Amino acid sequence: MWTEKDFEVDVLGPCTIESPLVRLRDVGFLEDHSRVRLQHKIGPQYDAGPHFSLEEAGPRERIYFDPRRVCGAVVTCGGLSPGLNNVIRSIYSELAYNYEVPRVLGVRNGYMGLSPDSGLKMVEMTSAYTDHIHDMGGTVLGSSRGPVPPEVVVDTLVRESIDILFCVGGDGTQRGALKIAEEARRRGLDKAIVGIPKTIDNDIEFVYTSFGYYTALEKAQEVLRGAHVEARCAPNGIGLVKLMGRDAGFIAAGAALASQDANFVLIPEIPFQLEGEYGFLAALEHRLATREHALVVVAEGAGQHLLEREKAGETDASGNILHQDVGLFLREEIKRHFRERGVDVNLKYLDPSYFIRSVPANPSDRILSDQMARMAVHAGMSGKTGMMVGSLHNELVHVPIRTAVASHKRLDVASDLWTAVMRSTGQPAW
Ligand code: F6P
Repeated sequence: MWTEKDFEVDVLGPCTIESPLVRLRDVGFLEDHSRVRLQHKIGPQYDAGPHFSLEEAGPRERIYFDPRRVCGAVVTCGGLSPGLNNVIRSIYSELAYNYEVPRVLGVRNGYMGLSPDSGLKMVEMTSAYTDHIHDMGGTVLGSSRGPVPPEVVVDTLVRESIDILFCVGGDGTQRGALKIAEEARRRGLDKAIVGIPKTIDNDIEFVYTSFGYYTALEKAQEVLRGAHVEARCAPNGIGLVKLMGRDAGFIAAGAALASQDANFVLIPEIPFQLEGEYGFLAALEHRLATREHALVVVAEGAGQHLLEREKAGETDASGNILHQDVGLFLREEIKRHFRERGVDVNLKYLDPSYFIRSVPANPSDRILSDQMARMAVHAGMSGKTGMMVGSLHNELVHVPIRTAVASHKRLDVASDLWTAVMRSTGQPAW
């Protein structure tokens, strides 16, 4: 059960310095008591229980750090997401141009760049370095998975005189950021650790949409279109597309809904049966018998209960469970099923994999990346720490990382998104 404390952001101390943003017009300064309610709906079913809220993100008129003496650093970790370079650029711009911070560093290759053992040198960011990066996919700083001991990171922050560290990454990165913040606090150091959530899977709590998600959908939708054309143009054509989405089906559901061509969407949140009267294969057989083609979208984390578990328990460097390849498995099972029934099918299997996340951000993700980055800078300059930028009801907010990582966001099968997927595909409820 949550308590009010779960939504209180840690601060390094009182904000006594006038923000240099006062020289700009129409800044829209906010006070810390401006908050956004978690529950924004009204009605008997919503009114019961305690009501929690999160601090609204935005510039503060009085800040904690003296901009003339502060040093900020950015680190990008984990898998790529469209918009990473936009975040780096906007952090730099907000710090250097608006707060007039003299020194902004870029950490190379994720948290590993904060360990002296890596031998990696930090990048001194300049406008020449950041000017054109927003048009490129990936991250100019490089990224990697895996933690570095928080003591080692804090030693580096002290050695390099870094006051604010911006940690751009997913769940694992945010957990790492929290540990760094705790270690700095334990040593009584004035270091602000601010997270910016990043995942194309869109599976971080208190983040309605992650930057990169809509770009990934756009690319995934192109692949679905191709698979659909292939399926329609062959007798008993089946297009089978595997999309990223380790533990959440947002990409598969979103791309399928955007395309409107999918007939089956298989996601990790809904275990399905393969065999039997109510299984997936029987439903696919019925679809082919009635419409002569089918488009199947499967999220990489779907159907893991059907796969052999010889790799069970294996994790990647971020501690995420490594899944078996459900796409290849389904491809073989579909072929076997129809072969055994003497039915010829034309199955085309597409796995766009990294293609959907390694591209430059689309306009909506560019805007979101920019806003999240600037809000992160305002939070850091105000001495907020152990927190990340989140979004609630289209408002950007400050979320204590400990609360954000306490659970995982999953596709709610009672949500409008999933209901729309069910209506547009006409697939059975497994
Ligand atoms: O960042 C999330 C994600 O794209 C998942 O959808 C996918 O399972 C994972 O990253 C793959 O990451 P990598 O192969 O880069 O470690």
